Amino acid sequence: MHIFSTATELRRYLNTVRRAGRPVHFVPTMGALHEGHLSLIEAARTDLWHLGGDFGQEPALTVCSIFVNPTQFNNPDDLARYPRTLEADLALLEAAGCDAVFAPSVAEMYPVPAVLKIHFGDLETVMEGAFRPGHFNGVGIVVAKLFHLVQPDRAYFGQKDLQQVAVVKRLVRDLSFPVEIVRCPTLREADGLAMSSRNRLLSPDERRQATELYRVLTRAQSLLTDETPMDATRAAVAQHFADLPQFRLEYFEIANADTLQPVGDLQAPGTTALLIAAQLGKVRLIDNLVF
Ligand code: PAF
Repeated sequence: MHIFSTATELRRYLNTVRRAGRPVHFVPTMGALHEGHLSLIEAARTDLWHLGGDFGQEPALTVCSIFVNPTQFNNPDDLARYPRTLEADLALLEAAGCDAVFAPSVAEMYPVPAVLKIHFGDLETVMEGAFRPGHFNGVGIVVAKLFHLVQPDRAYFGQKDLQQVAVVKRLVRDLSFPVEIVRCPTLREADGLAMSSRNRLLSPDERRQATELYRVLTRAQSLLTDETPMDATRAAVAQHFADLPQFRLEYFEIANADTLQPVGDLQAPGTTALLIAAQLGKVRLIDNLVF
């Protein structure tokens, strides 16, 4: 596995790969890798290009980036606490069959502070956009920089950050990046908790309680499937968390899974998303279900 910390080295290497005609698949991460990330690497590694004519298949080169991007943290404590486990991450990536890793410093990614601002329209006014002002600007800036450096043919993002997937798709559409965005399923622990780098910041007690988010999402899904009105479903979720003072519910939304805008009625199968965010102690947790 090749490991690069500068854009120049990475570009030089990827130029030779591209000259040999190999497609590039990219998994951007902030490190502190878990099985969810490894499932993205697996998706990238095994996603073949079906070439025309003789129907040959070409394996792509899998590139992963590890960079805790300061511009997407609207809370300095959250940035300081974010887990950094580079050595362990590299070992996991090597074992997972990743071909190349880009792990730059902040100075390498931001030799001068980025002044450009990206506004994602109505995605800024709901959920993560509303609760984390400036977050998607930071995501947009760093993903655009990484796409320019890596020039991937496909990039893989987890459904756990469903609104981020919509933001990245909008970035790609509006700025004409020639990259296909692939959304991969959320991986869960045995008790349903969505895998997240932040889970390792939970105390043992909090870890036990954290499964409430998934429990509430599945309960809300069955209420809606049983034709409980949306307002009553929202009220049931709010009441559930009102009885759990260790949580501070930020939002529970019923939205279109692609546009992330709130919906008034259940839509075609696979297009309605239930999304939740709550603070548990010092850790902010998010989760969603698409049904
Ligand atoms: O999802 C993440 O880990 C980050 O938001 C990303 C896409 C790597 C950008 O920093």
